[in-house]
Amino acid sequence: MIGMTINGQKYQFQVEPEWTLNYLIHDKLGLTSPKMFCDRGACGSCTVIMDGRPILSCMSLAIECDGANIETAEGIADAQHPLIDAYVTHHCMQCGYCTPGFVTTSKALLDRNPHPTEEEIMDALAGNLCRCGTYPQHVKAVLEAAGQLEEGTEKGE
Ligand code: FES
Ligand code: FES
Repeated sequence: MIGMTINGQKYQFQVEPEWTLNYLIHDKLGLTSPKMFCDRGACGSCTVIMDGRPILSCMSLAIECDGANIETAEGIADAQHPLIDAYVTHHCMQCGYCTPGFVTTSKALLDRNPHPTEEEIMDALAGNLCRCGTYPQHVKAVLEAAGQLEEGTEKGE
């Protein structure tokens, strides 16, 4: 039995030793945002935030995540994080399969660096692959979300 907080909610799970975090969250819990794309740590589509860091849920065993605090794109959307609107405004998705992985990676970046440069954004997103070629749009969206967050802070929100 392991325990985890996922998007602010506490869970207890009976897990098998070979279950990945992606299998637990996506297949068992039904949070479908962490997408299984390559299943070998190469594309970033399965990214979730664990204890503040973006990690690949396809490469993490569920039992290694006992006690962890996990955030998925569902939680980011439920919290109405400005990244969500910025992603829509800047048309960051075509098929959308890679998008939750970009959103979680971007959210983790903004949490640790609220004022990233274009270069820092590109560095942070270098592990996320998109078959549809949406790359330039993500930089615009992250910069816009950073601006919105700053505005919110200045207004004391
Ligand atoms: S599905 Fe995990 S990195 Fe590609
Ligand atoms: S939007 Fe299709 S893979 Fe990225």
